[in-house]
Amino acid sequence: MKGRGVSIIGAGMSTFGEHWDSSLRELIVDAAVKAIADAKIEGKQLQAIYGGCMASGQFSNQEHVGALIADYLGVNPLPSTRLEAACASGGVALRAGIMAIASGFYDVVAVGGVEKMTDVSTEAAATALGGAGDEEWELFQGATFPALYALMAKRHMLEYGTTEEQLAAVAVKNHANAAKNKYAQYQKEITIQDVMKSQYIASPLKLFDCSPLTDGAAAVILCESSLAKKLCEKPVNIAASSQASDTLALATRKSITSLNATVVAAKDAFTQAGLKQKDIDVAEVHDCFTIAEIIALEDMGFFPAGKAAKATEDGLTKIGGEIAVNTSGGLKGCGHPVGATGVKQAVEVTWQLRGEADGRQVKGAKVGLTHNVGGSGATAVVHIYKRGF
Ligand SMILES: CC(C)(COP(=O)(O)OP(=O)(O)OC[C@H]1O[C@@H](n2cnc3c(N)ncnc32)[C@H](O)[C@@H]1OP(=O)(O)O)[C@@H](O)C(=O)NCCC(=O)NCCS
Repeated sequence: MKGRGVSIIGAGMSTFGEHWDSSLRELIVDAAVKAIADAKIEGKQLQAIYGGCMASGQFSNQEHVGALIADYLGVNPLPSTRLEAACASGGVALRAGIMAIASGFYDVVAVGGVEKMTDVSTEAAATALGGAGDEEWELFQGATFPALYALMAKRHMLEYGTTEEQLAAVAVKNHANAAKNKYAQYQKEITIQDVMKSQYIASPLKLFDCSPLTDGAAAVILCESSLAKKLCEKPVNIAASSQASDTLALATRKSITSLNATVVAAKDAFTQAGLKQKDIDVAEVHDCFTIAEIIALEDMGFFPAGKAAKATEDGLTKIGGEIAVNTSGGLKGCGHPVGATGVKQAVEVTWQLRGEADGRQVKGAKVGLTHNVGGSGATAVVHIYKRGF
């Protein structure tokens, strides 16, 4: 990675789920206070804040979230900026924080992500989320996000013979991991039959193929690496930070069984880190729908095109398999508060590399990867992390 070294010295998150008794500001302050305490620093040592949030105006009638975070965290007049890239808002906020330190602008910054999605009806949430795609050509025509990913799933089935049972295997694995995560929205295991019997949302995707609507927040503290070594016993170093873009509408893409933004960002990230896919011990990938995890694993080169569904069915992506994928439970089991997800993925990888992931710990994990997607792939952000101790 170019520039100065950047390390994570603190990580924290709220529980994910339906929080009837916590507001947007309370969720992000909860996560930020935990991350600051974990870093063993004080708020006044921070030099800037970067916050990811997708649609707080539509979900909570609250904009200006950057300033809100600084205000309720009690760190004014610190510069505090909100970033938006749909479901990749957290990932781009993380990247902004990394670039601010790598460039020499700051030495210590906080990165947060937050969304409070359950105060509106499911229909209103679907409309807000639909804005992550092409409003004129997709949402206005009735194509919600489950529908867009259903199109990708249908095409993947046609081209590669992927089955609904194989998609279900993604959900079963991620719920099993979430059951071992006290922060997860769904701490219950499910079976292939449970998934297969659940209601169709947009065929072939059923209820258990979908990530849920979630309230939650996550935060990390970033620090210049030589300073991090002095402040922190177990720093986690950023080995790569990459981002790419693609068309908003699926109709204008060459292929819908692959997200080119993921392909480009992952290739660049592996080059930056000087690592190969086999070096990754633990990966948090963007499984907003089960098909999304399959496509992500193929696009990032963990499995050849058309082979990730079978690999999942064969258990290669379980904890203890070839590569542990979505140990937190992923978006499917842990929940998907859209603006928080990219930061939560960094929190999970930090805990894994520090050996603090409780019952879902990947033994001896040294290198991790996070993959965060905006909308149906118009933004993709990939980060690679290395144990720094
Ligand atoms: C799938 C979806 C439409 C279901 O919403 P809904 O029909 O309003 O569901 P409800 O809130 O009425 O919940 C019904 C039950 O299913 C459960 N549930 C809801 N969504 C679930 C999910 N995705 N996975 C597992 N269980 C789910 C609820 O906990 C509830 O269980 P209970 O009856 O035991 O309490 C909604 O979760 C959704 O829109 N998901 C996609 C979100 C999205 O597009 N994100 C952006 C991705 S890019």
